[in-house]
Amino acid sequence: MKVLVLGGGGREAAIVWKTLQSARVERVYCAPGNAGIARMATCLDIDLKKPDKLAAVAKDLGISLTVCGPEQPLVMGVSDAFTRLGLRFVGPSRAAAALEGSKVFAKEFMSRHHIPTATFAVCETVEEAKDIFDSNLLDGFPVVVKADGLASGKGVFIAPDREQALDIIHGLLVERKLGEAGRRIVLEECLTGVETSFLVFTDGKAMAPLAPARDYKRAGDGDTGLNTGGMGAYSSPDLLDASLQRKILRHIVQPTLTGLQSEGVTFKGVLYVGLMLTEQGPRVLEYNARLGDPETQVILPRLKTPFVDALAAIADGTLDALELKWSDEAAVCVVLASEGYPETAATGCPISGLEKAELHPGVLLFHAATKRDESGQIVTSGGRVLSVTALGDNLAQARQRAYAAAAAVAFQGKRYRTDIASPAS
Ligand code: AMP
Ligand code: GLY
Repeated sequence: MKVLVLGGGGREAAIVWKTLQSARVERVYCAPGNAGIARMATCLDIDLKKPDKLAAVAKDLGISLTVCGPEQPLVMGVSDAFTRLGLRFVGPSRAAAALEGSKVFAKEFMSRHHIPTATFAVCETVEEAKDIFDSNLLDGFPVVVKADGLASGKGVFIAPDREQALDIIHGLLVERKLGEAGRRIVLEECLTGVETSFLVFTDGKAMAPLAPARDYKRAGDGDTGLNTGGMGAYSSPDLLDASLQRKILRHIVQPTLTGLQSEGVTFKGVLYVGLMLTEQGPRVLEYNARLGDPETQVILPRLKTPFVDALAAIADGTLDALELKWSDEAAVCVVLASEGYPETAATGCPISGLEKAELHPGVLLFHAATKRDESGQIVTSGGRVLSVTALGDNLAQARQRAYAAAAAVAFQGKRYRTDIASPAS
């Protein structure tokens, strides 16, 4: 069968790599892909913001299954466009993807269905925000300020006091620093605890939890600096205990799916729940409507069930008949980022040492923002350049392997966190 993967980052590199492991898959296409993906798949230069064009091309190419990595196309209705043409697609409809596309929708949805989350209020003017602070609804400061719409991980701010909160709110609502994404905002109680990501495959009825993963969102060691798309991740068999997993499934994931269904919406794809494990129990920080990046780079290498079988089961609504099997190994991913990331990113820097890094035992080098320049040299093309991933018998071995490979790659301004999966982190 022919498979199409939408996206061009480290997550999509891992998806393409894993999909190709099934004998049933004769060819993989990727739009737009990157320099690393191009070694495995046929890259297509199509704008991901054009859902109907993507669906038409997929039909012409005889694609039998399409999977979408990033959120933007889903929120724009790419799943609906494929479904209209009778094509099998893994990723929620536009209506279901609103769980990620609108934080206001997500929060109000959780309130309607009694899904545990931080106390919140929605506002559209600075005056409304001041009233909310005066009412002490959010229990003082710090508070979390979130832009309603998609902002590539840059729409969430933790404000330590009223003055800074109002500054951020002014920036969003009046100066429109994030454009339309910040036309409405959510103000939230600031939760404390350990963060974890919980992902499930679902065909709308059945669900299958993925191996738990932890990602590292802040730019600097010790969780300092700005929020990023993710600077690293790990997955190991003992990351989340079984009783907590059951609790999350029962009190959060299942009510989310049945809540959507009761509103006439079927979620088919990957539901990603970002959680804070507080002293009062798990609370939802956010929903994503897709696989995480870089979580995917550590989850898929541990998957023993053919990935394409799981994807087909999601699309066909036969997930209840599938059991996902996981290896007992641990996986660690260290993201190599460009100078200036996440605020800016130096690009066009030649990358060396890729072959050397790949020779390290257990290492999988997933390209993220890479391309070939006119001379054929692989150069950087964005913020998160490479997802250097390694499997190991345990977390310490996977970590040591990933860092050894990360050190072997060189490009000007290379940045990475040194504490991914460290016992102290
Ligand atoms: P989100 O995109 O909503 O997951 O937010 C990005 C990051 O902001 C999360 O991964 C958390 O680290 C932090 N965050 C979001 N909401 C809260 C909250 N209510 N309390 C504390 N931290 C939060
Ligand atoms: N790693 C966080 C995300 O994919 O949203």
